[in-house]
Amino acid sequence: MPFSLTTRELGIDLGTINTVVAEGRQILLEEPTVAAIVVEEQKLVEWGQTAKDMYGRVPEEEIEVVRPLKNGVIAEYEITEIILSDIVKKLCGPMLIFHPTLMLTVPYGVTSVESRAVHEAGLGAGGRDVMLIQQPLAAALGIDLPIGTPSGNMILCLGGGTSQAAVLAMNTIISAGTTRAGGLSMDEAIVTYVRRKYGLIIGQPTAEQLKIRIGAALQQEESQAMEIQGQDQVSGLPRPVTLSTADIVDALQGPLHEIVENTKRVLEKTPPELISDIIDRGVALCGGSSLLRGIDKYMTKALGIPAYRVDNPYTCTAEGAVKALRMREVLRRSLLRA
Ligand SMILES: Nc1ncnc2c1ncn2[C@@H]1O[C@H](COP(=O)(O)OP(=O)(O)OP(=O)(O)O)[C@@H](O)[C@H]1O
Ligand SMILES: [Mg+2]
Repeated sequence: MPFSLTTRELGIDLGTINTVVAEGRQILLEEPTVAAIVVEEQKLVEWGQTAKDMYGRVPEEEIEVVRPLKNGVIAEYEITEIILSDIVKKLCGPMLIFHPTLMLTVPYGVTSVESRAVHEAGLGAGGRDVMLIQQPLAAALGIDLPIGTPSGNMILCLGGGTSQAAVLAMNTIISAGTTRAGGLSMDEAIVTYVRRKYGLIIGQPTAEQLKIRIGAALQQEESQAMEIQGQDQVSGLPRPVTLSTADIVDALQGPLHEIVENTKRVLEKTPPELISDIIDRGVALCGGSSLLRGIDKYMTKALGIPAYRVDNPYTCTAEGAVKALRMREVLRRSLLRA
């Protein structure tokens, strides 16, 4: 981990599922936003991948494994602040002689109370100057969309706890909308589908594995299969079942529909001149859920506008947050005030 004695400028994308930290053109850290807490003392044991690996494998009465963010906003303030402190200490040194400047991301549409919590967590973690940027704006900067011009650009940030659709021009968000339908609701939809169709109970991690390994947004020519172990709803005993791509496609239609509806609502609010630019340029898809097989084709069909997946779907928001630090004067009106 790089360690420096000068003032650092960090971009931190605080996501429901993953936290990504960038500086300059580098990604310094990428970890699941998961914390393991000792229940009795309410003390953090680990956070990140190590904490995530403990899920379901440690006694729940002793160690609780939690996601401190829900749908992109802070649900557990103290845990979030501890995670941010840990990031700052690791990167800037434990003595914190030079407090870093932080650009933290928040979802589009957060309330002032929610954004203030992120700002305070950044200050509490040791940030000297803490700024906030809306995720679709950061992501658009991170994929180098030409948002400084008067022509329209559209981006869909498909994360774990949110899906955000935004139209940008003149370095600002012209119209946007956020829905809670994201990767986690896709996992939940798979859990419900498997229970209803096969009478089997499975957990979120298994549902996520199914989605990533054999899932798709549209029916595929080549169907894949995966065997999983679930718990029979009636007998409570373990039972295997083999699911196919077609099953997962069926299961995902609900959340996908909600993502499309949110995007259509944003398009309805967008001035027609910008819409014609978007039709020419296409809609950029980013965020971990943009990796779902066939989602570009699915969105192209559902929206009637070509959609394409970006090259850096996981890291573009943090990369854009760093870029925003260098462009803070130009972006002055678009950055959130806490
Ligand atoms: N190949 C894949 N297919 C489908 N989904 C995927 C794939 N890879 C990752 N995901 C999903 O991406 C999601 C995480 O994406 P990301 O890291 O962008 O979320 P986040 O930024 O933490 O969340 P948010 O922005 O909503 O707060 C998870 O729900 C994960 O299951
Ligand atoms: Mg995100």
